[in-house]
Amino acid sequence: MKKISKIIVAASALLLVASMAFAGGAQQKSKVQIGVVLPTKDEPRWIQDETQFLKVLQGQAGVELLFSQGDSGKEKQNVEALLTKGIKVLIICPHDGTAAAAAAEAAKKEGVTVISYDRLITDTTAVDYYVTFDSVSVGKAQAQYLVNNLEAGKKGNPLYLYAGAASDNNAFLFFQGAWEVLQPKIADGTFVIKNSSEAIALQSKKNLERTEMAKIIGQVTTNWEFNEAKKKAADNLTSTTAADKGKVYILAPNDGTARAIADEFAKDKDVSKFFVTGQDAEKASVQYIIDGKQSMTVFKDTRTLVKDAVKMATDILAGKTPVTTGSYNNGKKDVAAKQTEVVTVDQKNVKAALVDSGYYAASDFTGL
Ligand code: BGC
Repeated sequence: MKKISKIIVAASALLLVASMAFAGGAQQKSKVQIGVVLPTKDEPRWIQDETQFLKVLQGQAGVELLFSQGDSGKEKQNVEALLTKGIKVLIICPHDGTAAAAAAEAAKKEGVTVISYDRLITDTTAVDYYVTFDSVSVGKAQAQYLVNNLEAGKKGNPLYLYAGAASDNNAFLFFQGAWEVLQPKIADGTFVIKNSSEAIALQSKKNLERTEMAKIIGQVTTNWEFNEAKKKAADNLTSTTAADKGKVYILAPNDGTARAIADEFAKDKDVSKFFVTGQDAEKASVQYIIDGKQSMTVFKDTRTLVKDAVKMATDILAGKTPVTTGSYNNGKKDVAAKQTEVVTVDQKNVKAALVDSGYYAASDFTGL
């Protein structure tokens, strides 16, 4: 916590620097050209992104970065404030993908180019570009980890499913990827779903429609909230019996919820061992992995995502067409996208992937 608040303080100081434009190498006050809006300061994932933005943007252009604190109303106000300052490019990670359409449309009306960052803004034509990780592969990597830790030939392994917020398009992509890998192993009896009647009802179907996924996600959502994840896990453990426990497999959607869920499973005397997934490589989860309290995470290198978003923005400011590698349909259009790969991390490669790569300092952890 102490380190996080230090980063926030440092970040706010850097903001001042970032909002100075560089003209001919000399810093002078000028108007903000790029606005960055991130969903919340309360999840370490977005502090990682903020830190990278502030690193990369120093000296690039007039930039201002704002947080929406998990509130679509605040997000809209943030965008309006940035429009007043004259931004030309908006890089925005929506709190709620559909609700953010209004903010994107307001920006578009002012002639601003809108880049959806990490999460896609849906149901509007007002999004120009999308910079993202390969989110389907995040879900696949999580599920594959669980599959890789099965005992050969053993059937009836208890499976507990959890998902992100239904208002986040990524929650569907993660779940889709995970389901594609898990479903054949559920259908052949290797895994037995213990906490979702909706998932059980669909367990013979490999490729789910969005409406079908919505039913399952509606039941197993954490809303990306630690407390909701904790409560859901505790409720599931109360309503299942010792026969549904023993060695269990848990699909947890991200690191924050994984830690909350893992803590509940660790307390249950009928759970002898558990495998639990995550994503984001949050520092607290890296420590959990080192300590054997969380099995894996999916590292999404925010250095790359931020670099791609900023490159896109600076290309747009320079009148160039940004490089994209594919597209994502947002319900209203195919949004040209630049996608980044992800890396599975567990105890075996945690040091190489996250410390030796320079992402975190070894001194941030104990027992490495
Ligand atoms: C992001 C994840 C994050 C989650 C909760 C998703 O859209 O892709 O990295 O853990 O939101 O904030």
